[in-house]
Amino acid sequence: MQNDVLEVLYSEQQIQDKVKEMGELITRDFEGKNPLVICVLKGAFIFMADLVKRIDLPLETDFMAVSSYGASTKSSGVVKIIKDLDISVEGRHVLIVEDIIDSGLTLSYLIDVLERRNALSTTIAALFDKPTGRKVDLDADYKGFVIPDAFVVGYGLDYGEKYRNLPFVGILKPEVYSH
Ligand code: PRP
Ligand code: MN
Ligand code: MG
Repeated sequence: MQNDVLEVLYSEQQIQDKVKEMGELITRDFEGKNPLVICVLKGAFIFMADLVKRIDLPLETDFMAVSSYGASTKSSGVVKIIKDLDISVEGRHVLIVEDIIDSGLTLSYLIDVLERRNALSTTIAALFDKPTGRKVDLDADYKGFVIPDAFVVGYGLDYGEKYRNLPFVGILKPEVYSH
């Protein structure tokens, strides 16, 4: 599997260091707020697991599955809720945990949904940001890495549902896409 990777962009260690740093900032900022931490499935599941371990606060976790990419490398622009939250966001400080922001369509849709459900505040923690892909005006409050305009996989990020389990983030070899 690692044979399909052309180049490692962020090593396991670099990612872990960054996640720790983000968790410390969030711990400081959310003191006394009992945040509801929402993982945007599927891509964010690994980041979520690592990040919450670095947030030293009482918090609750919930999971929502949305998809805009399907099996393609390009966003369809249509966001679907595949699994909704179990816990009510009403009156809650919500921290949304996302692996990557590209067009921004997934998160702008999600924030809209959470605000209509009367969340008290919505804050975004995104490990990766690809500003060149942006189609809507949206930015993360906590950002790990700003990445180049390439399709990346690993650490939760997939291509056709594969490669999520790579412990690092990298770029696939071009021949992988032509299969
Ligand atoms: C990917 C990624 C983000 C979103 C970012 O999810 O995990 O959630 O796309 O793209 P955007 O800013 O252009 O909306 P995907 O739809 O591939 O679903 P997945 O998380 O299940 O892989
Ligand atoms: Mn996703
Ligand atoms: Mg995907």
